[in-house]
Amino acid sequence: MTSYQFPDSFLWGAATASYQIEGAATEDGRKPSVWDTFSAKPGRTLNGDTGAVACDHYHRYETDVKLMAALGIKHYRFSIAWTRIIPDGRGDVNEAGVDFYSRLVDCLREHGITPHATLFHWDSPQALEKRYGSWRSREMAQDYADYVTAVVSRLGDRITNWMTINEISCFTHLGYAVNADPPHAPGTRVKRRKDIWQTCHHAILAHGLGCQAIRAASPVPCSVALVDNPAVTVPIAESPEHVVAAQKAFPTCWANGGILYPVLTGAYSPVLLEQLGWDAPEIKAGDLETIHQPLDALGLNIYTGTYVKAADNPNGYECLDFRDSYPRLNMPWLWMLPEALYWGVRHISDTLEKPALPLFITENGCAAQDTVNAQGEVVDLERIAYLRQYLKAAHRAVADGYPLHGYFVWSLLDNFEWAWGYDRRFGITYVDYPTQKRIPKASFHWYAECIRQGRVV
Ligand code: FCB
Repeated sequence: MTSYQFPDSFLWGAATASYQIEGAATEDGRKPSVWDTFSAKPGRTLNGDTGAVACDHYHRYETDVKLMAALGIKHYRFSIAWTRIIPDGRGDVNEAGVDFYSRLVDCLREHGITPHATLFHWDSPQALEKRYGSWRSREMAQDYADYVTAVVSRLGDRITNWMTINEISCFTHLGYAVNADPPHAPGTRVKRRKDIWQTCHHAILAHGLGCQAIRAASPVPCSVALVDNPAVTVPIAESPEHVVAAQKAFPTCWANGGILYPVLTGAYSPVLLEQLGWDAPEIKAGDLETIHQPLDALGLNIYTGTYVKAADNPNGYECLDFRDSYPRLNMPWLWMLPEALYWGVRHISDTLEKPALPLFITENGCAAQDTVNAQGEVVDLERIAYLRQYLKAAHRAVADGYPLHGYFVWSLLDNFEWAWGYDRRFGITYVDYPTQKRIPKASFHWYAECIRQGRVV
């Protein structure tokens, strides 16, 4: 019988992001990000919710760090808000904004928790949206790199795990749609599909420049990673023909071939470029070299996946749709597919031929219809069921010898779930927004026990 025991070196953590938890939107010199502007527009988010207060983590970070210590995590992934550090997007650094992260990092370290900082989790400066349309302009990549230098030169003595950018496909492909209102900020419709791919190209360029900026500014050796949410193709059954089909489908599924491929191999996937034709982005000489920086690790955010089967067609595979009766958590896209975590790891190691690249699951979790019962508890059975299956898939990857080194649950706290506002709860801690009370859910206690025993319980 498998005990699902992880090696002692396996790192257990939890993740959050600035705009989703901090609140204090106008404090200490912070200026608006595109998410402040987008969420303030009627009809853009559910119930008109915004991140203006969120979990008030800006004022309650000490309580939240104590919560992490009680959970037993030794690693915490959070993000830094560009507009706290450089409120206008470019130009003067706001030292009061840096101070917040400095205090947070000191507090984490006092509790024996290692900080892992994401430098960009979607909250682009509104000033740069106004100036040149943020990711529509190539200028964004250099402004991002300058911001990175400002952060790393100030906090790099105490933060040594850096992640450049979170989930490029979401704030580019889902931030600028051609014929529909995009669900993500800035919510601008661009004219052509090519222009969407161009925003994405600027973001991978920013990642490359960001890697260089981190390494140039860090006063001590550090780890540099990208966080991506690959569209994971999962063989419908683990037979050689379906495995090959899933591998063939990987580069053209969603944005994989235009993000992971250039970042990890130095070239867009040729199959994707062929499919895109005139819709492919303009790539300037030297861009691919800049984008293809050596990485110390890759973060994978994996929540779900796509089943693929071998097919008798020119591609040799077919991607399958889910029917309504397929098990799903409390989000339209959140199909229960734990094997995606295992196959996500395998596609990086095998399909992309990066067997030595250290991998981390930087996000995994689910939304559930959580309520506080008469005893004041939140018994989130479906979240435990979900997490248990995905952690078993992580264990399988480790047991098979793949370089999966750690796991961060999404999320430490219920928070502002973007266009879904506060309606969807992903936390292992319930947040009662009117009082800001934190109530650890049953899944919190379950995860604490997994960490204590170093295995899936
Ligand atoms: C990911 C995001 C994260 C959170 C989860 C549910 O795509 O990175 O901020 O919203 O989904």
